[in-house]
Amino acid sequence: MFQQRTHTCGQLTKEDTGKKVVLNGWVDRIRNLGGLIFVLVRDRYGKTQVVFDPNDNKEVYERSLELKNEFVVSITGVVRTRPEKDINLGMKTGEIEVLATQLEIISESEVPPIYINKDEDVSENLRLKYRYLDLRKEKMQKNLIIRHQVMKATRDYLSSQNFLEIETPYLTKSTPEGARDFLVPSRLKPGTFYALPQSPQLFKQLLMVAGFDRYFQIARCFRDEDFRADRQPEFTQIDIEASFIKREDIFNVTEQLIKDIFQKTINEKIVVPFRRYTYDDVMNKYGSDKPDTRYGMEFIELSNYFEETEAKFIKEELANGSVLKGFIIPEKAENFARSKFDELVEYVKSLGSSGMIWISLTNSGDIRSNIKKIAEREIRKLIENDIIKKNSVMLMILGENSKVNQILGQLRNKIIKQEFEKKSGFDFLWVIDFPMFSWSEEEQRIMAEHHPFTMPNLEDFKKFKDIDPLKIKSQSYDLVINGYEIASGSIRIHDRTIQKEVFEVLGLTENEIEEKFGFLIEAFKYGAPPHGGIAVGMDRLVSVLVGEDSIKEVIAFPKTASGSDPMTGAPSPVSKKQLDELNLILLNELTNKEE
Ligand code: AMO
Repeated sequence: MFQQRTHTCGQLTKEDTGKKVVLNGWVDRIRNLGGLIFVLVRDRYGKTQVVFDPNDNKEVYERSLELKNEFVVSITGVVRTRPEKDINLGMKTGEIEVLATQLEIISESEVPPIYINKDEDVSENLRLKYRYLDLRKEKMQKNLIIRHQVMKATRDYLSSQNFLEIETPYLTKSTPEGARDFLVPSRLKPGTFYALPQSPQLFKQLLMVAGFDRYFQIARCFRDEDFRADRQPEFTQIDIEASFIKREDIFNVTEQLIKDIFQKTINEKIVVPFRRYTYDDVMNKYGSDKPDTRYGMEFIELSNYFEETEAKFIKEELANGSVLKGFIIPEKAENFARSKFDELVEYVKSLGSSGMIWISLTNSGDIRSNIKKIAEREIRKLIENDIIKKNSVMLMILGENSKVNQILGQLRNKIIKQEFEKKSGFDFLWVIDFPMFSWSEEEQRIMAEHHPFTMPNLEDFKKFKDIDPLKIKSQSYDLVINGYEIASGSIRIHDRTIQKEVFEVLGLTENEIEEKFGFLIEAFKYGAPPHGGIAVGMDRLVSVLVGEDSIKEVIAFPKTASGSDPMTGAPSPVSKKQLDELNLILLNELTNKEE
């Protein structure tokens, strides 16, 4: 039996001087100062310096020569105050050290394939293959501790507000959240499949029909979709639903929850209520439904400055209903050489723009622009009216309004990444009044912008459902923090006729509605309360809280971009026996057989 710890490695202070203590932990670092050996012992609470002194205890000193990084040890010793010159106030235990009187090597370690105690650029594959080592890093431990605190604050706050935590199934039927389903074959009913839930959406609505009134769940969701820095195939939501409420109630609960989380985890006091923008507003100002407004650079419409221009292509397009919009990059003219503008022109072309107009005004008042020759008069007007200031750059796109917004939005994001240091602080905002439907170029059909259970704006719905559904707004909303969509929700449909009509706009036949969502429509027959809710992306919320760009940094065991786990090797082939039990034959085996 090993000697069990009396203290953690983050606990001892000057007050403990003279105490006999036992520490358990990993060897983080060894310094041999010819005569004395200093070992930092680490656990999840911190690090403590242990000294092995041959003059004090020769036998223990000699054993300490066997130590290597990441050995697990139990050390008994006496706490002493460090000499003044060795005090390290950057460390919780930096005022003391432990003079070792006993050393027990509990388990040895091979040289670890990644450094634990220093930051180095290793491949993601290596980090994930040895994730249990990667997770020993101080930063990763801190991230997962904060994640735990977020979950705890969530449970505490929502429970205090009468919300009940109720679990819903993982083996279920497809819920449309816009991604592909992960399927699980059923052994007992060969040829049939469960879908892993893309979210608990339908179940939480059914819990409202069941009268649970205020529900929440820290729920895992599964979506087979393309990866990005802020997307994983399985991720966690703080899922919330309530009955007899209005949108304002959901905003209020979410704001208070977020406020509580920020206060309890990083001690940041945030101001509620958050600013609100309509969808049209953010698209017109930032070209994105999740703008980071800390960087400014709102779009300005400049069409009226160019209506009489001699630049023929601009004048003609404007006369045909196009708009000319742009944004100013302040204090950056010196950074923009001609080649940079050329690169940006190529970039917007790759997004489908016919080109980009750029103007830069140097500190000394020199104008540079790709339309200087043909539109100098208009450029001077922009300068006179103080729209373009010294040392700033203006980028403009000409075209149809929504396309211009979209391209400028992507351009603005690129400029933020390329030209600005990451800003500190938090920028919270709600986006409301989203369109109910959008047109999917890829699938060539109308899709629900949020999901089909969202209540449309009923006036719009009546007016446009048969003639122009894309004009219908919905009662859905997003919460955006620092340019990330952190949460999303809506007031739901609780009336079977409206629900059916929405499915019809989406092109579902009577049979398809029955087959896919019959149980929901059926439930609405028996007294459905008005209800609504929201889901907060936990992984995204935690990554914003701790300032990480990727949600992988706040998930213990994430997947790589190709959806695999280098540590376990998942996904992996299964045995013939397992396939047989599930009544499945793989296509390539089938073709082999036929050959
Ligand atoms: P939605 O699909 O918008 O809404 O998801 C809610 C929030 O979950 C986060 N999120 C993700 N996080 C990591 N990886 C992913 N692949 C991923 N996809 C989404 C986002 C997003 O805002 N049922 C509705 C909610 C509701 O209407 O109540 C839903 O799931 O932060």
